[in-house]
Amino acid sequence: MSALVGGGAQVLGAQPKVQFDVPHSARIWNYWMGGKDNYPVDRLAGDAVAAVYPRMGLLAKQSRQFLIRVVRFLAGEAGVDQFLDIGAGLPIMQNTHEVAHEIAPRARVVYVDNDPLVLTHARALLTHTTPEGATAHIGADCRDPDVVLAGARGVLDLDRPVAVMLMGVLGYVSDTDQVREIVARTMDAVPSGSYLALWDCVSTSKAMRAVEAAYARTGAMPYTVRDVDLLAGCFDGLDVVDPGFVSISQWRPEAGQVGGAIAVDGYGAVARKP
Ligand SMILES: C[S@@+](CC[C@H](N)C(=O)[O-])C[C@H]1O[C@@H](n2cnc3c(N)ncnc32)[C@H](O)[C@@H]1O
Repeated sequence: MSALVGGGAQVLGAQPKVQFDVPHSARIWNYWMGGKDNYPVDRLAGDAVAAVYPRMGLLAKQSRQFLIRVVRFLAGEAGVDQFLDIGAGLPIMQNTHEVAHEIAPRARVVYVDNDPLVLTHARALLTHTTPEGATAHIGADCRDPDVVLAGARGVLDLDRPVAVMLMGVLGYVSDTDQVREIVARTMDAVPSGSYLALWDCVSTSKAMRAVEAAYARTGAMPYTVRDVDLLAGCFDGLDVVDPGFVSISQWRPEAGQVGGAIAVDGYGAVARKP
């Protein structure tokens, strides 16, 4: 299904029902980021996890600032004008298309998420775009790269460089081999000069190692906290740009950002496909 929503913006994919009695990762994440698109069940779950990892709200806010710095780098210095943001989340602060369009007004941005509420909110998200750019939202599961790529192909030219973004989503895939497969198949479909931008929570502290069990107890879709080396393996065969695979707060930090450069247990990097 494909529905045109407005100036250069599309919502693709069926819209399943939103559940209000089960916590959802996108809404818990929205709560931690200080957003309003969440329900009591999500706030209860968020508080339970934050009880074992009190820096969760800081990590969530820092992750958005990481995304902003990364997209600015990609649209500016790297000269990329196509973005495939997989596991996009609910709209909040500055979203990928807004950041990209400030620098590259013609940028084409495809958001992908498997949460029905995210898809519903896509309409609000999609109102802010430039006349010459394009923004689309696909309801799909990142574990099915063929479906994601087929949807993206309708909006992006996959013969030209694409920035593939997997920001805080791969923890929802428990099997590391499957994670590597998702990254490999997606990056195989885009040409040389494309980029991979990725971050996820890693087991660099005792408190973060306790998050996995605390998250599972909430009844939300389980989240796997990986070792740094396992996540870093996603960048094999790609040229990682400076400063490498680091705590997200330490990736090209800028003055005046939330939490400054306090290290958190979320690691990420940006890498170019040679
Ligand atoms: C932690 S949030 C991160 C949101 C956003 N990328 C950000 O950095 O703020 C994870 C998002 O991934 C989505 N997600 C989880 N599992 C997914 C899957 N298998 N396929 C697609 N999206 C998924 C969730 O619905 C949620 O919106």
